[in-house]
Order: sequence, then structure tokens, then C-alpha cells
Amino acid sequence: MTHAAADASAPLLELDGVSRRYKMGSEIIHALREVSFKVHRGEYVAIIGTSGSGKSTLLNLLGCLDTPTEGAYRLRGRDVRGLDDDALSDLRNREIGFIFQTFQLLPRTTALENVELPLVYRGMGRSKRREQARRALERVGLGKRMNHRPNELSGGQRQRVAIARALCAEPTILLADEPTGNLDSTTGRDILGLFEQLHAAGNTIILVTHEPTIAARCPRAIRLSDGQIVHDGPGAQVAAGIRGMAEAVAAEAVSA
Ligand SMILES: Nc1ncnc2c1ncn2[C@@H]1O[C@H](COP(=O)(O)OP(=O)(O)OP(=O)(O)O)[C@@H](O)[C@H]1O
Ligand SMILES: [Mg+2]
Repeated sequence: MTHAAADASAPLLELDGVSRRYKMGSEIIHALREVSFKVHRGEYVAIIGTSGSGKSTLLNLLGCLDTPTEGAYRLRGRDVRGLDDDALSDLRNREIGFIFQTFQLLPRTTALENVELPLVYRGMGRSKRREQARRALERVGLGKRMNHRPNELSGGQRQRVAIARALCAEPTILLADEPTGNLDSTTGRDILGLFEQLHAAGNTIILVTHEPTIAARCPRAIRLSDGQIVHDGPGAQVAAGIRGMAEAVAAEAVSA
């Protein structure tokens, strides 16, 4: 264990002046501009912003699927810069649980086998792996659906399988990109309830959303606009700022 990992007051992750640029022919796209923030163990943070504001770019960096063009990203005190693809995927396997909007489950494989997969990559033995996957599915309320394939499950149940898969390897951080984006509002609320339970149990969660109502439920929200942080504070305050702006825009449209 490094000195930073042993220090409970040290941030779990830290971005320091992080920029991510994409080059498209002769054009340079500034997807993130000098983003800096820290997240401590046990926090539950929403990242909110309009389409194209840089949310997925940020989440991909946090999840070690990508590296910054500029600036430093430290995960448990370790600078991710300069790590090669193998080292990055190793770090990802150990530290990160990713939940995608479109679930990304293997279609011809049961819920149990889908959840087990990250443990296969870790080289865990079969019986231990089964047991851990079973426990993760029970935790998300799917104890009775373990042998169903994705097409034999509802959308909300599929998202629960994806959450169980992210959870089963006991990652340091859960990252979720619009996890309720493909669900009806009732099912979406159930999934948010599940995140709240996981947070209460001590998990660190970072969730991307474009809905102020979701950000309002999170203890902390970070709002991105055009690749920059424009507000970092309690979820309810950040959400109120967005609503306030929407009202101002509507009022202007009426008076015009
Ligand atoms: N691989 C890429 N190559 C070039 N430009 C990219 C690439 N990925 C993202 N971008 C650009 O970077 C900006 C931020 O994209 P990003 O996907 O992070 O937005 P987002 O906030 O997640 O949006 P959405 O809510 O629509 O998912 C956008 O302008 C996008 O076009
Ligand atoms: Mg996105």
C-alpha cells in the first residue's frame, strides 16, 4: 500500500488542471478545460451538464478508459499519467466499477455469468467467483433471476445486473453514465434508490446525468458547461441553479 492509500483523509481521486482535447482534422475540440476537483471515499457525486458539455469525457478519464491531454489525475495518490494500456486496464480492473446507459451485457449469457465476468479477468477461481456474483445479484434484488438471460429480463432488471457486475469485484469507485437514461421514471427511481443504499453502505459513487431532479438528490453535484466546471456544491443548490437559468431563459423568450 502506498502512503497516500493508507491516509484516510487523502482524497480518493484528484483532478488537477485536467484538459482533454480531440483533434478532428484541422479542428481542435476542447472537451474538458482545466478541470480540478477532489473526491473523498464514500462521496456520492452527480456530474451534470447539457449534451456535449464533457460529462462522458470526464467519466472516461476517471474510469481510466482515457488519459488527460494536460493536467494530472491521481487515483489513490497514484498519478495515472504515463501508464501504458496494460497498466491502465489493470488499474481499472482493480479500482473501477463502470455502469453504462445501455447496460452492455452479453446477450447469450445468464445474469450470473455476466456478473461473474470481471472476476474471470481477475483470475478468481470458479466457485469463489460464483459465490461473489450470487451475493452481488442478491444485493440488487435479483436473487430469483440469476439464470435469466438479458432478453428474459426487464430494462430495470438488466440495469440491476449491470450494477451487480460493477459491484461484484468490490471496486473502490462506482462510475455510472446516465444509468437511468433508458428506463421509465418509476424504474429509474428504483435504480436511484439502489444507488442511495450503496452510498449509505459506504460505496463511492460518481453518476453522470442531465436531469436536475437526479442531481438534486445527490449530496454533491458538479456542473459542467462547455468542458468547464461552473458549479460544484450540494446537489440541491446546483440543480436549483440550472432550474433558475431555465426559468430566466423562458421568461426572456416570453418577453421577446
Ligand atoms: N472521440 C472523440 N473525438 C472527437 N470529439 C469528441 C470525441 N468524444 C467526444 N468529443 C466531443 O467532445 C465534447 C464532449 O463530449 P462528451 O461525450 O463528453 O459530452 P457529454 O456531456 O457526455 O454529452 P451527452 O450528454 O450527449 O452524452 C463534444 O463536443 C463531443 O463532440
Ligand atoms: Mg455522454
